[in-house]
Amino acid sequence: MTEFIDLFPTKFVKRPLADFEEPNRDLIKHVREMEKANKSLTTDYRENNPLEYDRAGPNWLRAQINDTVIAYLKDVGIDYAVNWQIHAWANVNRMGDYQDPHNHPHAYLSGTYYLKLPTDAPKKRHRSDVRPNHISFYDPRTGFNMTSIKRDPYVDPEFTVLPEPGLLMMWPGSLMHFVHPNLSDETRISLSFNIVLKWSDDYLPTQ
Ligand SMILES: [Fe+2]
Repeated sequence: MTEFIDLFPTKFVKRPLADFEEPNRDLIKHVREMEKANKSLTTDYRENNPLEYDRAGPNWLRAQINDTVIAYLKDVGIDYAVNWQIHAWANVNRMGDYQDPHNHPHAYLSGTYYLKLPTDAPKKRHRSDVRPNHISFYDPRTGFNMTSIKRDPYVDPEFTVLPEPGLLMMWPGSLMHFVHPNLSDETRISLSFNIVLKWSDDYLPTQ
């Protein structure tokens, strides 16, 4: 029998959340309050977990993230108990702010949830190929597109999304990504998170 096997997959979750408007209002208020208390909120990402609060927005988002992790584990076929913690931080990005290519060491999964994006049209003075506020993810097999031809699955080494408020995305923590600059006077606000496993020897594959 001839088999066609997709080797070395990269599982990526894109999930627009229903009824996000009210929780987003509370989360934006919450992030703005946190930023008033700490002007370096976005760069002090290890110290300020916006989901470690018992209030409506954080409680809602925590539940949504946990549901998404459960769905991810089910989809990849993990059928045993897994325990994790959510380490979250807020990103408030203003005109010119961006995040250069990076991954999230020691995170099993990573993700971002979008609270607010600029709504104004890009300014005419910018180059036509800039993609403000997009996020790009890169094929971890660097250079795999080198000899690809039209229609084969290796052509595009980059996967790019223009997020909208209410969108939750999640991916393996090792996946490199780049957050394109905000080129608006309006802020872009998101919450990023790492899913950190509470270790158990049961996670070790059978040799
Ligand atoms: Fe990131």
